[in-house]
Amino acid sequence: MSDQPLLTRRPEWTALEDHRADALQRPRLRELFAADPGRAERYVVRVGDLRIDYSKHLITDETLALLQELATATDVFGLRDAMFRGERINITEDRAVLHTALRAPRDAVIEVDGENVVPQVHAVLDKMSAFADRVRSGKWTGHTGKRIRNVVNIGIGGSDLGPAMAYEALRAYTDRSLTFRFVSNVDGADLHEAVRDLDPAETLFIVASKTFTTIETITNATSARSWLLAGLDGEEKAVAKHFVALSTNAGKVTEFGIDPDNMFEFWDWVGGRYSYDSAIGLSLMIAIGPERFREMLDGFRIVDEHFRSAPAEANAPLLLGLLGVWYGNFFEAQSHAVLPYSHYLSKFTAYLQQLDMESNGKSVDRGGHTVGWETGPVVWGTPGTNGQHAYYQLIHQGTKLIPADLIGFARPVAELSDELKAQHDLLMANLFAQGQALAFGKTAEEVRAEGVPEEQVPHRTFKGNHPTTTILAAELTPSVLGQLVALYEHKVFVQGAIWNIDSFDQWGVELGKVLAKRVEPALTEGAEVPGIDPSTAALVAAYRELRK
Ligand code: F6P
Repeated sequence: MSDQPLLTRRPEWTALEDHRADALQRPRLRELFAADPGRAERYVVRVGDLRIDYSKHLITDETLALLQELATATDVFGLRDAMFRGERINITEDRAVLHTALRAPRDAVIEVDGENVVPQVHAVLDKMSAFADRVRSGKWTGHTGKRIRNVVNIGIGGSDLGPAMAYEALRAYTDRSLTFRFVSNVDGADLHEAVRDLDPAETLFIVASKTFTTIETITNATSARSWLLAGLDGEEKAVAKHFVALSTNAGKVTEFGIDPDNMFEFWDWVGGRYSYDSAIGLSLMIAIGPERFREMLDGFRIVDEHFRSAPAEANAPLLLGLLGVWYGNFFEAQSHAVLPYSHYLSKFTAYLQQLDMESNGKSVDRGGHTVGWETGPVVWGTPGTNGQHAYYQLIHQGTKLIPADLIGFARPVAELSDELKAQHDLLMANLFAQGQALAFGKTAEEVRAEGVPEEQVPHRTFKGNHPTTTILAAELTPSVLGQLVALYEHKVFVQGAIWNIDSFDQWGVELGKVLAKRVEPALTEGAEVPGIDPSTAALVAAYRELRK
């Protein structure tokens, strides 16, 4: 891939620039729908239980054809096949990228360096299932013989966001007699608040870290260990019953004092942000049970298969990826909003932030050259109706183009009371209304026709033309969650392939880690930081002064 011609010099790229400049220079969704009402049905792609409507985009058949040509020219499907085959497409870390193997069926064969990895994947899933069942049934007891009532996952980034998001998303499927907490921040307040009302004798800590060297996680796990021992008369033996680890690094797990028998393994070909369907999902599996967890994996697999085999024009991750390229590279859109109309998806966008921004926040191509084009967008958003009363104003009437995904479900979760279930139509009415208002706006004529005084007309006019994708499913089940996550995983893949960047490394987080280690002694002991800049030195001095 590194010897590809420069992306922006490809004829397929310049064709899109020309297309943007002429016919669609001022594309209006009102006109596009007036000229072609059939787009409402035509621009819909179905995958698994997801109905993905992309009709409210600033596109025509020609735009789609040109985008598809770009995908062909940049060999997106070639890289996709290399990923599924287990080739080392993460070039800067020289690793295969095989999160898809985590949800492969038992009889699949996926080789890394000549070894079929699927049996290992299922061996770990089986071990997780047995453990989850023991915790859920009360057979796994703590050091004093009390059953486990609280599960605290300690991890950060991919070792936190995935399980925390999915636990929230699938709350209706969780064992409500167990309490789950997720600790990530090295701010001691996070662990303090997570454990302050828990009984150590009933608490299981799951230390989740791919590398088992991440300072935040190791620091929190060490403090959790002290908290546990303080509550259990300093009995070192208690650790074996109250701590398990999820990691690729058995050596470091043992060094920390966790019995390797209590370690659930995964592999270097699973990126942190692609890992919650691996052992990293143990807390989720305890919450929802092994069967539901496997249903979620089935959901991932539906979209994997779709991505692998659906033709380009009906390939959902490809289409969504291309739409993002269309706005990011040809309309200068800087961000992308993900707006779920489901309270249960309250952490979904935060999860996607890592997935997308850590993957595609790159400015060097696979050959090591600075890119001459925009890459990953800023991804942001919170559940829909809350956002409507906060930042939607800017999306509707601000100066920026912000493409958005609206995600909603036809049915509320079963356990809501009838009265609360009845609120669901109002929730979804908001989703549909927002998509409509964003796309079609309200013209000055329409505003005047309502008798609005002339001086207020500009303020009350909505120019519309804001693109949205609407993703609908019947219900937020474990399978549907898996489908949604895989959809975004592969969308991010498509964009990275087109931009010719390595979506699977994350060198950009390293410098801050190194500097934090260097600065810490200055805070604790007042030590000199070699080579510190004057601004940071002054801040350190002010901090030390203030905390006296
Ligand atoms: O610092 C970034 C990162 O490496 C993420 O990619 C990863 O998900 C997170 O830190 C946590 O890493 P680990 O699971 O190794 O503790």
